[in-house]
Amino acid sequence: MSQTTFTDVRRFDSIDSTNRYLLDEARSGAPEGVVAVADHQTAGRGRLGRRWEAPPGANLLLSVLLRPALDLDQRHLATTAVALAAVDAISGMVVDDGSGSVAANSSGSGLGSAVTIKWPNDLVTPDGRKVAGVLAEADLASAVPSLPAPVVVGIGINVNWPATDEDLPPELTGAAASLRQVLGAEVDSEALLDALLAALGPRAAALSSVSGRARLAQDLRSSCTTLGTTVRVDLPGESFVGTASSVTDDGHLVVDVDGTFRTVVAGDVVHVRPGA
Ligand code: BTN
Repeated sequence: MSQTTFTDVRRFDSIDSTNRYLLDEARSGAPEGVVAVADHQTAGRGRLGRRWEAPPGANLLLSVLLRPALDLDQRHLATTAVALAAVDAISGMVVDDGSGSVAANSSGSGLGSAVTIKWPNDLVTPDGRKVAGVLAEADLASAVPSLPAPVVVGIGINVNWPATDEDLPPELTGAAASLRQVLGAEVDSEALLDALLAALGPRAAALSSVSGRARLAQDLRSSCTTLGTTVRVDLPGESFVGTASSVTDDGHLVVDVDGTFRTVVAGDVVHVRPGA
């Protein structure tokens, strides 16, 4: 299977939003594989219309343009592919005890499951604090007839900010953390970016085949610490509590509500709260 290499990396000192930039590029027919990376975003977009804030130069803020052969209801797997590539990259990082800094994907023992996925789109620490969020955006009007429809997937990774909990605004205290805090040393963002983009090649290619999608869903199940926990799902106009029991091959969450299995599609969810 041919694989896109994510080597067309466009860098911005400051931009409103790397997702916005790539949605515009997609409208002009840009191919799969374009990457936008920013030191700072003035209008970074988060899920549900929220803002994604990070001080300049501290964290990884990037978006990738994908054109996978996916049905509309399989779109969540694009988020999954990027989240898994980030987990791959972070898991491959090793701590260099000598210098006190952390590099990605050098030789040595990896950090294993330092970070897991909280369905639908968060990367979290073992104690449940968010270290990254993923936002997939598609603009049906941007379809170019000769090309598969685009989906832009952005990820913000808290790499070196916050350095300590004191750096966080009160509303994020206890809810967010950085890789630096998890790993106990400053992290080399460039090495992490390289590792993520390398991991993304096979992860993105998997989106366009049945077996690849099954593999992504299986890897999501393995990395997803939401499974087996009690969750409260907030949908527009409705909430319910149940046990997160599985993830479908399309990446949707199945929740056991007193023996009735409800399938939750990422786009509809306001919150999935563990331990509800
Ligand atoms: C979330 O709310 O959890 C998703 C946050 C996604 C933030 C990233 S930062 C790079 C890319 N550009 C944006 O405007 N947003 C995403």
